[in-house]
Amino acid sequence: MSNNKTLLLVIIFCISSCSYIPNPTIASDSSSDFIRCLTKKSVPHWLIHSRRSSSYTPILKSSIRNPKFLNITASTTPLCIVTAKRTSHIQAAVVCGRRHRVRIRTRSGGHDYEGLSYRAEGRRERFAVVDLSGMRSVRVDVAGRTAWVQSGATLGELYHAIWSAAPGLGFAAGVCPTVGVGGHFSGGGFGLLQRKYGLAVDHVVNATVVDARGRLLDRGAMGEDLFWAIRGGGGGSFGVVVSWHIRLVPVPPTVTVFDAVRAPEHGAVELLAKWQEIAPRMPEDIMVRVIIDIEPRRVTFEAMYLGTCDELLPLMRNQFPDLAMVRSDCNEMKWIESIPYIHLGRNATVADILNRSSISRVNTKSGSDYVRKPIPINIWKKIFTNLQQVSNFGQFQMFIDPYGAKISSIDESATPFPHREGVLYNIQYITYWNGDANGTVALKWSRDLYKFMEPYVSKNPREAYANYRDLDIGRNKVVNGISSYHHGKVWGEKYFRHNFERLAAVKAKVDPDDFFRNEQSIPPLFE
Ligand SMILES: Cc1cc2nc3c(=O)[nH]c(=O)nc-3n(C[C@H](O)[C@H](O)[C@H](O)COP(=O)(O)OP(=O)(O)OC[C@H]3O[C@@H](n4cnc5c(N)ncnc54)[C@H](O)[C@@H]3O)c2cc1C
Ligand SMILES: *[C@@H]1O[C@H](CO)[C@@H](O)[C@H](O)[C@H]1NC(C)=O
Ligand SMILES: *[C@@H]1O[C@H](CO)[C@@H](O)[C@H](O)[C@H]1NC(C)=O
Ligand SMILES: *[C@@H]1O[C@H](CO)[C@@H](O)[C@H](O)[C@H]1NC(C)=O
Ligand SMILES: *[C@@H]1O[C@H](CO)[C@@H](O)[C@H](O)[C@H]1NC(C)=O
Ligand SMILES: *[C@@H]1O[C@H](CO)[C@@H](O)[C@H](O)[C@H]1NC(C)=O
Repeated sequence: MSNNKTLLLVIIFCISSCSYIPNPTIASDSSSDFIRCLTKKSVPHWLIHSRRSSSYTPILKSSIRNPKFLNITASTTPLCIVTAKRTSHIQAAVVCGRRHRVRIRTRSGGHDYEGLSYRAEGRRERFAVVDLSGMRSVRVDVAGRTAWVQSGATLGELYHAIWSAAPGLGFAAGVCPTVGVGGHFSGGGFGLLQRKYGLAVDHVVNATVVDARGRLLDRGAMGEDLFWAIRGGGGGSFGVVVSWHIRLVPVPPTVTVFDAVRAPEHGAVELLAKWQEIAPRMPEDIMVRVIIDIEPRRVTFEAMYLGTCDELLPLMRNQFPDLAMVRSDCNEMKWIESIPYIHLGRNATVADILNRSSISRVNTKSGSDYVRKPIPINIWKKIFTNLQQVSNFGQFQMFIDPYGAKISSIDESATPFPHREGVLYNIQYITYWNGDANGTVALKWSRDLYKFMEPYVSKNPREAYANYRDLDIGRNKVVNGISSYHHGKVWGEKYFRHNFERLAAVKAKVDPDDFFRNEQSIPPLFE
């Protein structure tokens, strides 16, 4: 007993001397009150990284994907980072955050395109980050064909765990293995199985969330409105989703991947114009997406087929004869092998999808569009002409994912993700630049391209994908301490169409004080 007391004293001494260094000038600073509150609620001091601890900067940078956000003096950064290991640590952060006026931003994989899981734009924003990378277990129930996955797992860890437990099962979510489950599922989540199985959130059957009052709620306790909202209504608005219960999907023993690379001077633009009519109407077992590169200028038709090359060849000849696909284009493999093959390169192994370290390359700016009517070929030709300017500052890619089949057949209000019936395809624009000096011209170019595309893409609203976050389409304005619904509609209806109003009503119910907020969080709409 007395030994325990001594130990406790040692721990308390260590907390105050190692992690929290008392400083009279900031004694009333809310971050020190916040940190004291966390330690009182049994969050171990080694999981609390204040601005003054040497672990702060490495942990902050650990999952920053976009090098432009590595310059942490250019953003408002968290007062402190809590690397939670248990649900009770998340609950403590929420309760202490409310008590001491420190907001919480949750980070799972850190891939947010605007970095909103760890940085703020407003200079006066006072927040802490709850980093979930230490909460990443995956429990597969093979007989029940389901799994519980914690938000801090990456997609690579999820796919790997499913495959290890049951090679005949897989999951329908994104292509990049380092993306975090938490943010990805929060915005919908799509990948190369979307035409067969829809989105990640179309397979979520239960979840656990820490809400704005610090309570841990499962599906029954949170109610169907909140359960609806967290399945695609965007991260960072409703609470901290701790874990997700998902239905797994069957995958065949062999899948076939192929890349047909065509140059603009050899008919690539004509093929692309035809692709728009064909790809969204193909059978659900095949997805042919398009990647446009500018160095060298080329169009890649990249396909994933749930079956063998023998089955695929007649299908392609029948459906898309102009692509002139031949047997030597086929690469047969197991579904799990297609994950590293497609995203990490031809020599990557299945084990590589467990590698969490972000590959920081060049600075990027992303945006997205949805297309419901084919874009005329003369416009595609103009786009390719515009692309020539990019070589002045860096690189550019367009990823074009065909919809149709399952992803489009689900009702628009079934989940917050509204881009369903009538969508032909999604476009993701990624502009890359080298060196800070090229940033201004790169950003201007990407905005000009977005403006150029306006007449040819979806309208009223011009739709965008919540997971391809883009602050250029609008951001919240705080009025009387609360994010304004009126201003939020500008970006919100682009991401969620008619579902935005329902999301805002759910927000008013579960977080009326707007505790969980960022530059593009759902604002509350009061009746
Ligand atoms: C290289 C790359 C490839 C991508 N490929 C695809 C793809 O194939 N398909 C696709 O659909 N998307 C793709 N994306 C987009 C990706 O889905 C989103 O960026 C996603 O939000 C990232 O999730 P995260 O956990 O890594 O990010 P984070 O930055 O951790 O979080 C993103 C947002 O969600 C919030 N959030 C995070 N965790 C939680 C939680 N547990 N509870 C509540 N809110 C939370 C954060 O606060 C933040 O607002 C890609 C992104 C990158 C950078
Ligand atoms: C980082 O950002 C600050 C503030 O915007 C700026 O002054 C500084 O030059 C930047 N540093 C680098 C290395 O880009
Ligand atoms: C959700 O999961 C919890 C925790 O396992 C369980 O107790 C609850 O019954 C589940 N609810 C539903 C609706 O499946
Ligand atoms: C793959 O490995 C082989 C043999 O080591 C090498 O020759 C080839 O360039 C590599 N390919 C890629 C795409 O890295
Ligand atoms: C993980 O990826 C990084 C970046 O590509 C690489 O440097 C590192 O060696 C990899 N780690 C392992 C264990 O393969
Ligand atoms: C700007 O981009 C060009 C083209 O990619 C490159 O040659 C140049 O070095 C870049 N400038 C800086 C300052 O990095």
